[in-house]
Amino acid sequence: MGLLEVKDVGKRFGGLQALSDVNLSVAEGTVHAIIGPNGAGKSTLLNCLVGKLIPDSGSVSFDGQSVLGRKPHEINQMGISRVFQTPEIFGDLTVLENMMIPCFAARDGAFELNAWGSMMGDREVVEKAEAELEEMRMADKRHMHAAAMSRGDKRRLEIGMCLAQRPKLLLLDEPTAGMARADTNNTIDLLKEIQENRGITIAIIEHDMHVVFSLAQRITVLAQGTPLVEDTPENIKGHPKVREAYLGESSGH
Ligand SMILES: Nc1ncnc2c1ncn2[C@@H]1O[C@H](COP(=O)(O)OP(=O)(O)O)[C@@H](O)[C@H]1O
Ligand SMILES: [Mg+2]
Repeated sequence: MGLLEVKDVGKRFGGLQALSDVNLSVAEGTVHAIIGPNGAGKSTLLNCLVGKLIPDSGSVSFDGQSVLGRKPHEINQMGISRVFQTPEIFGDLTVLENMMIPCFAARDGAFELNAWGSMMGDREVVEKAEAELEEMRMADKRHMHAAAMSRGDKRRLEIGMCLAQRPKLLLLDEPTAGMARADTNNTIDLLKEIQENRGITIAIIEHDMHVVFSLAQRITVLAQGTPLVEDTPENIKGHPKVREAYLGESSGH
């Protein structure tokens, strides 16, 4: 039994069958990549895992419990944390203020906008946020405005904000999209470090094959809403169906 089990999931948008018969098992402590061409259904699948979308059919269970019918914040409390395709940080806040949000939420169960005033003077939350930034090696940037940082550092902060909630499963949707090569390589190193030091499970959607093959222990190839093949990186590289359906198409990237 994987930490995350997706069984026979289907999702339709009007006349479009975005997902059909999706089966996926993510083993605890591994990095599992989901790849596939644009429009394959990768983000839709991720949205079904975090309660943003409800599948029409099938089941999704995490740590032995169904996530279906639960609200996004309940799923988050079960131990699933998600990094979106575009950074979700508050650009006009400092790095420290951004980090205080998940620290506050982890202690009090949720972060409400009306909690903002009391949070700012909360010594315990400030100290926790400083410790988290230390762990992410971002302490020197704590008084910077988040918007002023490089894309790689924004992503680092955002991943750190997810990790501050101590999730069991970290979901990443194209974390290196639009990044310069140096920032991409920093993100790869960061994710490797996270997996090694924290033993966390990671499911990553990624377009960049360099990132996929640097990190993943298992790869699922999604094409037109259905898994085409699931295997080790070595086997995926040489798989004729994958070359035809995906790697060939992405050779221009
Ligand atoms: N909310 C939505 N309403 C209608 N169609 C959608 C919606 N979200 C995604 N789609 C469609 O579903 C298909 C899968 O999209 P998506 O999951 O975003 O693919 P990927 O992330 O693999 O690029 C695409 O054809 C997309 O246009
Ligand atoms: Mg997508």
